[in-house]
Amino acid sequence: MTSDQFFEPAAADERTDEVKAFFNQWHVYRTIMDHDYTGEVNAHKALRDLLIHDFPDGFSIIDLGCGDAGYMAQMLAGTSVSYYEGVDLSDVALDLARKNMEVVGCQCVFSNYDFVRNLQERESPVDVIWIGLSLHHLSSVQKEMFLAYCRSALTARGLLIIYEPMLEEGETREEFLGRCEAEIDAHWTALAPDEREAICEHVISADFPESVMTLREMGLRNGFARVESVWRNPTSLFQMIVFHASPVNPPGE
Ligand SMILES: C[S@@+](CC[C@H](N)C(=O)[O-])C[C@H]1O[C@@H](n2cnc3c(N)ncnc32)[C@H](O)[C@@H]1O
Repeated sequence: MTSDQFFEPAAADERTDEVKAFFNQWHVYRTIMDHDYTGEVNAHKALRDLLIHDFPDGFSIIDLGCGDAGYMAQMLAGTSVSYYEGVDLSDVALDLARKNMEVVGCQCVFSNYDFVRNLQERESPVDVIWIGLSLHHLSSVQKEMFLAYCRSALTARGLLIIYEPMLEEGETREEFLGRCEAEIDAHWTALAPDEREAICEHVISADFPESVMTLREMGLRNGFARVESVWRNPTSLFQMIVFHASPVNPPGE
């Protein structure tokens, strides 16, 4: 059975094009997640350790480009989280996220909105902003604005935490794309050749990663006190970077 047949809609009046297009891509995305090609399992473990350590007494979090929030829900269950907000442009993703987040038991809000505008228009500050595998589609200028909006949206002890594909220091975008393509061809073997090719085409047209040093400079320019890389996946394509609003470490560190 192909993914097209599996997701054939039951009713003629469903949003068939949207649902099918989303799930045809989502099937590929889920295969990548299920085989952990992007290192999300250990990234979320590192995120969980960090949040438990830094926020023993409760925290609020917004999840930008939340997708189905599958790993996020597992990561947050049993932490001191009091408020979760998932932001995504896809209603289908948000419906899955709503269901996945039920295990967490905190107050949850889901918003179908552009994540940059969500930040720009926020009225209440949050403790944690998380963005996973979504920031690298923005241009350098847009990333700079994104960081400024994030800083304004955070509490005094707040953290922006990103998990994204990252350039090595001195690496060009073309060199990164070559590294990415070699990695996908060699290791993402649960995907069909045409699916691997489609991902490579997507990466070539839509991925604009930065180096840690560039992001650190952008972060410091836009009001963050400290920026550090806290985790990278074994192939070093992806890294987790923490932008601290406060210059001091939390008590006990
Ligand atoms: C690669 S998925 C990542 C999902 C999830 N963060 C994760 O790590 O598993 C990117 C998600 O970001 C959403 N997205 C992309 N651009 C967006 C935007 N400008 N505003 C809100 N959501 C966006 C997409 O709909 C998609 O669900």
